[in-house]
Amino acid sequence: MSAKGKVHHPLFARFYKRFAAAAMAKGEDAYRRRMLGGVSGRVIEVGAGHGLNFPFYPAAVTEVLAVEPESILRQGAEQAAAAAPVPVHVIDGLADQLPAETESFDVGVASLVLCSVDDQRAALAELHRVIRPGGELRFYEHVLAQTSRFARRQHRVDPIWTRFAGGCHIDRDTAAGIEAAGFEIEEIDRFLFSTSMLDKLASPQMLGRARRA
Ligand SMILES: C[S@@+](CC[C@H](N)C(=O)[O-])C[C@H]1O[C@@H](n2cnc3c(N)ncnc32)[C@H](O)[C@@H]1O
Repeated sequence: MSAKGKVHHPLFARFYKRFAAAAMAKGEDAYRRRMLGGVSGRVIEVGAGHGLNFPFYPAAVTEVLAVEPESILRQGAEQAAAAAPVPVHVIDGLADQLPAETESFDVGVASLVLCSVDDQRAALAELHRVIRPGGELRFYEHVLAQTSRFARRQHRVDPIWTRFAGGCHIDRDTAAGIEAAGFEIEEIDRFLFSTSMLDKLASPQMLGRARRA
């Protein structure tokens, strides 16, 4: 099924481009670079946005298939792909119905997207399907806080947050979701990162890699 029109957030897309520029200026670029360190072979990136990860793919990457359903962000990704250091092909599609063959990628990449997909379980099942046995999932995501007081605040605010943030949720336990999908987390770094008071509730973040058995 085509992803056409299924993710349509023109206001959020414009806002995200500005917001992400501020986050990159505050040091988010270092997290993206770390997430992709040592990656090689065929890569699938889901919900690639406007291509902020593309400059950080190492030369050992032979191809990136970048799937992005939102048309404004996809246009940005196409421009970023033209300047990328490795071949990047940008296509329309949904993380939960990946237009890709089973076990055909060495690495899957998810950054700041497992918060936004409608069905995180389906998206992770799809990543598990398309990554080859022994392949890796690299992730950089904002997640549910590990302290109960902060987590309670996230749960309280999430219904409002998601309406203004293009379907993004601030209270997902994405590490648990990655493991439930059949990946083994080999490295995970948890930290706080935000650009201002406005995104403090999304400051609990994690970065790491997981292996598909
Ligand atoms: C906060 S942005 C992050 C974009 C990019 N991954 C990055 O690191 O800058 C969330 C992204 O998830 C995408 N998205 C939302 N629902 C999706 C879905 N079902 N499948 C794939 N991408 C989706 C949005 O279009 C958007 O590009």
